[in-house]
Amino acid sequence: MYIIYKYILFHCLPSALDSFSSLNRNRMIIIVLSATLLATLAAGQSQDSCYADQTDPYILFGTATPYEAVSNTNASYVYIDKCEAKQFWIISRHGTRYADADEVDELKDLYDLQEKIIKNHEKDGSGSLCAKDLENLKLWTLQVVSNVKRDLTPQGYNDLYRLGKRFKSRFPALFKQTVTKDSFKVQFTTKQRTAASAIAFVDGLFGTGMGLEFPEALEDDMLIKPYASCKKWEKDVEKNKDTTKEMKKF
Ligand SMILES: *[C@@H]1O[C@H](CO)[C@@H](O)[C@H](O)[C@H]1NC(C)=O
Repeated sequence: MYIIYKYILFHCLPSALDSFSSLNRNRMIIIVLSATLLATLAAGQSQDSCYADQTDPYILFGTATPYEAVSNTNASYVYIDKCEAKQFWIISRHGTRYADADEVDELKDLYDLQEKIIKNHEKDGSGSLCAKDLENLKLWTLQVVSNVKRDLTPQGYNDLYRLGKRFKSRFPALFKQTVTKDSFKVQFTTKQRTAASAIAFVDGLFGTGMGLEFPEALEDDMLIKPYASCKKWEKDVEKNKDTTKEMKKF
């Protein structure tokens, strides 16, 4: 009997089904618990607290939080009674990327916002930022650069590298073998960020530069980027203003 749990294929003896379903139940409980914890933390946050005192102020702050900041950090060996992990597949998104030039231009509008907030506090006597936050806000300048558009950032490398490392420690039997191009196959698109992400992931799994051979990226990759060759998707989704309506409101 085979069970696919996320993207790990286990080969199990028939009596293993019970422990598998209890494993999923435990996951549900953990998810519910952490959602409750987050809600409690958010409610405890008073309006006048200082952002400067928070050690992790940016978690879930934007539309694209780096995976590393919110990942499952459990790196324990996954054990399912009477089962043995046999295969591993993952279709993964690339890690955190740089903004493109247009987005960087839009970010420059934040200087106006910065000015308004400072004016609110200093001239109009309104606003509820603490002194330290106001000081930090005055010192703020835009740090992003626009000449590395949409390439993988160092954070993005870490996202995938550490994900690879965690999988290795969770499924040691699968990744202890010497890596060859016959034992593991990796595929990525023509973008710098996806190639660099794949390399980061493999570095995490097998150690940096362990020499897995990577294939040439395909121009029309029907497996990992099928939408790019789909005219219907282009017309109904990509070029359809309804698609991004909610995102733009946000
Ligand atoms: C970590 O993963 C192991 C293996 O799946 C599991 O037994 C354990 O309960 C997990 N610990 C936490 C804190 O989630």
